[in-house]
Amino acid sequence: MDLKNEINNDNLPQHIAIIMDGNGRWAKKQGMLRAFGHENGTKSVQTTVESCAKIGIKNLTLYAFSTENWNRPKIEVDTLMKLLISSLKKELNTLMKNDIRLNTIGNIEKLPSSAQKQLLEVINKTKDNTRMTLTLALSYGSREELISAVKKITSKVKNNIISIDAIDEAIINEHLYTQNLPDVDLLIRTSGEHRISNFLLWQIAYAELYFTEVLWPDFTEQHLYEAIISYQKRERRFGKTSEQIK
Ligand code: IPE
Ligand code: IPE
Ligand code: MG
Repeated sequence: MDLKNEINNDNLPQHIAIIMDGNGRWAKKQGMLRAFGHENGTKSVQTTVESCAKIGIKNLTLYAFSTENWNRPKIEVDTLMKLLISSLKKELNTLMKNDIRLNTIGNIEKLPSSAQKQLLEVINKTKDNTRMTLTLALSYGSREELISAVKKITSKVKNNIISIDAIDEAIINEHLYTQNLPDVDLLIRTSGEHRISNFLLWQIAYAELYFTEVLWPDFTEQHLYEAIISYQKRERRFGKTSEQIK
């Protein structure tokens, strides 16, 4: 049965974020190198992006490479950067066809210049697309994002551009990499790990968390729908009582 039919279109998460985990274990299970898992992971990226756009999700953010992932063996980092470039080249048409805008968060300047160039090209070509914003978190770490926000804000305070009293949630939001994105409603992590790994710490303050044992290369359209249906069954109270919500 297609779970898509069970999704309530009036209660879609506005912003889904995914920690795409388990590529290495997926490859190892079949006696293959980790790179094979990363290659197969790109197929799940493709189906997830298209499925989200199809059902009307406005914002999808994918954790593709963390600040901590720079500590992996050089050969794996190189493979991931090459895969990023080839996927961007390959997916440009799909993004255009589906009216999807590409965006990035993270310390992009740390990426190899060839990857930066490819990213900028796709970002530029898709900039007027409006159906969905796909954000790739690349060389992203939430703590680094917060440090950079604090630096930008304090420098504005020092230069009398904003006053200390004016600092509120909106000001902080405006100085994060995610400045134009709404808070995350649904955070999905694959591969059975129950942790956040330095992803969007501020932005997930009230997100619904969904963990699945499925390894990322095995993650299908139906698994995505399962997560959305689980989200739609939950009562989001934001500190209020259940009676107040009803
Ligand atoms: C996720 O899969 C991809 C990245 C972190 C880039 P992993 O490479 O972390 O796979 P496991 O967790 O080792 O199985
Ligand atoms: C988190 O996965 C980063 C990405 C999915 C890009 P990791 O596999 O790097 O996380 P840890 O190290 O297991 O926490
Ligand atoms: Mg992992």
